[in-house]
Amino acid sequence: MKKLFAFLCCCVVLQTVFCQDAKPRIAIIPEPVKIVENEGIFKLPVNVVIEAPALPELKQTTAFLEQRLSAATGSKVTISSKASAAVKLVLNTTTNKEIGDEGYQLKVTAKNVEIRANKPAGLFYGAQTLVQLFPKEIESAGAVNGIQWIAPCVDITDYPRFGWRGLMFDVSRHFFTKKDVEDFIDLMARYKFNLLHWHLTDDEGWRIEIKSLPKLTEVGAWNVKKEGYFGDFTAPLPDEPRTYGGFYTQEDIKEVVQYAKERFVNIMPEVDVPGHSLAAIASYPELSCTPGADKYHVRSGENFMDWSHGAPPIALVDNTLCPANEKVYVFLDKVMTEVAALFPFEYIHVGGDECPKNYWEKSDDIKALMQKEGLKTMQEVQSYFEKRLEKIVESKGKKFMGWDEILEGGLAPNAAVMSWRGEKAGVEASLMKHDVVMTPTAYCYIDYMQSDPIMEPHIYATLRLNKAYSFEPVPNGADAKYIKGGQANLWTEQVYNVRHLQYMVWPRAFATSESLWSPKEKKNWNNFTGKVEEHFKRFDIQEIKYAPSMYDPIFKAGKDANGKLQISMSTEVEGLDIYYSFDNSFPDRFYPKYTVTLTPPKDAVMMKVITYRGKAPIGRMIAMPVAEMQKRADNKSNGEDGD
Ligand code: ACM
Repeated sequence: MKKLFAFLCCCVVLQTVFCQDAKPRIAIIPEPVKIVENEGIFKLPVNVVIEAPALPELKQTTAFLEQRLSAATGSKVTISSKASAAVKLVLNTTTNKEIGDEGYQLKVTAKNVEIRANKPAGLFYGAQTLVQLFPKEIESAGAVNGIQWIAPCVDITDYPRFGWRGLMFDVSRHFFTKKDVEDFIDLMARYKFNLLHWHLTDDEGWRIEIKSLPKLTEVGAWNVKKEGYFGDFTAPLPDEPRTYGGFYTQEDIKEVVQYAKERFVNIMPEVDVPGHSLAAIASYPELSCTPGADKYHVRSGENFMDWSHGAPPIALVDNTLCPANEKVYVFLDKVMTEVAALFPFEYIHVGGDECPKNYWEKSDDIKALMQKEGLKTMQEVQSYFEKRLEKIVESKGKKFMGWDEILEGGLAPNAAVMSWRGEKAGVEASLMKHDVVMTPTAYCYIDYMQSDPIMEPHIYATLRLNKAYSFEPVPNGADAKYIKGGQANLWTEQVYNVRHLQYMVWPRAFATSESLWSPKEKKNWNNFTGKVEEHFKRFDIQEIKYAPSMYDPIFKAGKDANGKLQISMSTEVEGLDIYYSFDNSFPDRFYPKYTVTLTPPKDAVMMKVITYRGKAPIGRMIAMPVAEMQKRADNKSNGEDGD
């Protein structure tokens, strides 16, 4: 009897282990170049030996695998150079040209796992993919019982489409600690991003210690804490304590650079000049065209710019360095000397965006400079500044990159351009044979709202996940040879803490990662959203926040032939049902299901809406005032420009 019981138990176990259905769903982000699924599964042994070359560059890769393959599973992991290991990391002795410097081949068989690459970065990315093949519980920091720790047998060949796969992190508008930045790097590397664009200076804070210019961080790193809608804050009182903010010491910077390097992430520092420089001017007022001690303060989110005439804005407070002032170039030389010594990456980003010209226009020094240099416009004045700055940056052994405004008035000879105000500047610069990184607002600005403005913290524009996913880094008409890649940008005016930072970045950065890594022809929205849901479950286990906005309905307000309000709804994700009420109560799946355009009942004031998948609620409960729909119908607006 005992034997029969044991036999039956074995059958059950074998059935689960070998049955095709027991295989976890393959949901790798970003989508690999080639996946061949084979019969069978690899079962993680209780004692896992990882064989890897003993290279310092691989320490983080093996440490990552060791942690991930043991913490949740209870397996014991040892790193060894012995053969017969369950997981082998192999550096090719003959280069495999197909996979390049960052690609890898991952072979999972019933017997073992092998990751091969030409370079350590490839092994790191192969390790990321391997972890994504195991059940989601592998992400747990603590032991999880009752899970079959299996991965499907596969052959994967994978390599990136672009060498520049970036995320920009603005730590000026709100300061984030060194640990926050390292956590950001950790997560971006897991989705095969390799470039952190670190926006270190702006009107609201100078965040990097410059030893030869101590006031930059003594004064420039601090403002007054305010909460609400950044941009509309009341101006701080003159004697209000300026204790909010912070900065990174040079030791901090070195540690973050090393942390990133171990995860194959380069860091490009940005020092944003000549506009966006109020923190520098508050520290050293003599750098402006309108000097005067005590006149300038680091901005705390009060209104200081008039955008009503378009770009460039009109500054209400002078936040610009003065191109006619020789002290500015001495200052920049000092800054670039120290920045260049801290960051091994080849580029320094010098900003150049949104530089107001109204104080320059009034300056006698600028007028004299224009006469002396034969400059006709304010754009040419900025171009003069950029060309001098390019020389300074190059004298430190670095390449010069700026936002696309640096094209105006004449591009500096070797400048690389970051195209953000659309794609036109990227096309233009590539045709001029300048390197380009694409980050057009319409696809890459992850500070924008992700859903209907009624649901999201207010920003002036919206970028839904499906739009982010449609990002094509090589714009029509560009010379593709000069498009280095792209990035998504997280500006943090409205991002006050790490939890909201995560909400803003994920899942849109999944979309960016797939646009930058995966072959164009392998992108597929429905497949992608299915994978996103699997990664949401992984994030739940790790307690990482993400935006569930893709489940919210999209509202459209219009009018019928008689001028009556008509409301229609759709969803970004396929297969969802929308239930609604007009009686102020909370709809569930027993309420009316949305099928055709609705006319609200005459006296209705509120429409409440929720999405379901089958019997399970999946979206957030949305309360949409009928008056808001009426307003949008009257204005022919979808509300998503945030107005
Ligand atoms: C930018 O968004 N001002 C580059």
